[in-house]
Amino acid sequence: MKELEQRIQRQLEDLLDVEVRVEVPDSMEHGDYATNACLRQASQEGKEPYRLAEETVEKLDKEELQEVDEIEAAGQGFINFFLDENKYTEKVLEKIKKEGEDYGSHSFGEGKTIVIDYSSPNVGKPMHIGHLRSTIIGDSVSRILEFSGYSCIGINHLGDMGTQFGKLIYAYRNWGDEEELEEDPVGYLLDLYVKFHEEAEKKEELEEEARKWSKRLEEGDEEAERLWEKFTEHTKKGLKETYSRLNIQFDSWKGERFYRDRTEDVIREALDKGVAKEDEDGSIIIESEEGDSPYLIQRSDGGTLYSTRELAQIKYRKEEYGFDKAIYVVGQPQERHFEKAFEAAEKLGYANKDELVHVKFGMMSVPEGSLSTRSGNVILLEDVLDRAKGKAMEAVKEKNPDLAGKEEVAEKVGVGALKYFDLSKKRTTNIKFSWDEALNFEGSSGPYLQYSYSRASGILEKVEEGEADFNGMEDVEFKLVKKLGRFHAPVEQAADKYEPHRIAVYLNELCELFNEFYHKCRVKGSEHEARRVEIVKAFKQVLGNGLDLLNIPKLEEM
Ligand code: ARG
Repeated sequence: MKELEQRIQRQLEDLLDVEVRVEVPDSMEHGDYATNACLRQASQEGKEPYRLAEETVEKLDKEELQEVDEIEAAGQGFINFFLDENKYTEKVLEKIKKEGEDYGSHSFGEGKTIVIDYSSPNVGKPMHIGHLRSTIIGDSVSRILEFSGYSCIGINHLGDMGTQFGKLIYAYRNWGDEEELEEDPVGYLLDLYVKFHEEAEKKEELEEEARKWSKRLEEGDEEAERLWEKFTEHTKKGLKETYSRLNIQFDSWKGERFYRDRTEDVIREALDKGVAKEDEDGSIIIESEEGDSPYLIQRSDGGTLYSTRELAQIKYRKEEYGFDKAIYVVGQPQERHFEKAFEAAEKLGYANKDELVHVKFGMMSVPEGSLSTRSGNVILLEDVLDRAKGKAMEAVKEKNPDLAGKEEVAEKVGVGALKYFDLSKKRTTNIKFSWDEALNFEGSSGPYLQYSYSRASGILEKVEEGEADFNGMEDVEFKLVKKLGRFHAPVEQAADKYEPHRIAVYLNELCELFNEFYHKCRVKGSEHEARRVEIVKAFKQVLGNGLDLLNIPKLEEM
């Protein structure tokens, strides 16, 4: 419970002259909370740490720390706090009940705005697994930040400019079919893209044709614009269907092309301010710090780039949203790109470097054939979801053949499996995808959390409520309660570091305790039914809140 930690901290800070940190020790021997603040204070004063700890314990106001049963001074100036089972449990469960969906939330982001750029696939170009990661991680980070009080604006910075359009226009005009495009825009454009490359292998002049269309599009040619619009609109529709399966929405879909008219200003400003200069070949560059390659913002033929639009986008978003932070959920490979962009944006006075954050993530490798791929590392999100659903269906049929609404459950389990797999890993590490792991019902998986949730639901259907007595709890009951009382900690860390895995890992541990509880402690018909009902209700609430932060579907039955 955060309030209790804060009360302990405040009291100690009044008594001592150092900053106090209250920690949760690894071993119960050292209490439920402990602090070594006296050690630092004692060394400042040249005092014996244990003595000082003893004196400090004496002076603490125990009345104000009612949930604490015992406070002891220990070696090296530690002070250990042991909780009072009964009072602590009562307080925590009451708090969870009272706060409900808000339990675990924070207010430290209040009044602040964060713009979060995520998913951002490229129209008409292969979507790769990195886009899936960006989508899932970005959505969760955004939820965690909202839960921490920030107001978040989610932006899908669609890659709707680039040389692929020249190729697509050529391909569509020669081999395209309107109906097929409407049917499955993302898949169909990918097919056209692939076909173009196959044909271009045989006929070199195709590349030149594509270049011509690219140029026409840049110059605002009517036919080129019409087709651009068609591809982009259909793609958006297709993407929206996929996002809806993932329960994800964006506040803005302004893609790269939106900034087309704003890049000119950026280049002029950069030159006027002396931030950029013309290179020997006529291109315009912003010099990077210490020997790194420069940031190219205009090609020698006058064309603009991804990087130019990046600067335009920062400027625009700052003006439009007045953000306190703008974060970019994009893979590791773009690390240098963002470093340079942020540096340049600061020099141009668009935003401070420390307001701009690249939330990078590692690669996810996918063993051959395990996610439906059209060629190489190319994936269609839609196919991945179908595959997840199919796999989940096999598992659901095996576990619960009589379940009603299997289709819907399988869809949700599949989505949960994918999301948890991604979110439970530390964001920056490289990971290897595995279906066995993602769909393992026994532990550390999305379905495992969903299953625990539905189990709690099942228990609560049949029980009776009554006057709960929290004396003489089983070990595992109190452990579970204490874990419930600590939900705020992973939330806070996750928000601070943009690391959803902190919540995923916590929820997995929480479910492990719940499963131990479930096996050891009968609820229905037990003499402790009333209190166990309260514990299960609180568990269901906290797990539910956590699942919402990861945007993993909750299931009442599975
Ligand atoms: N479309 C880009 C890609 O697929 C990602 C864009 C991320 N957002 C940004 N503002 N650069 O690599």
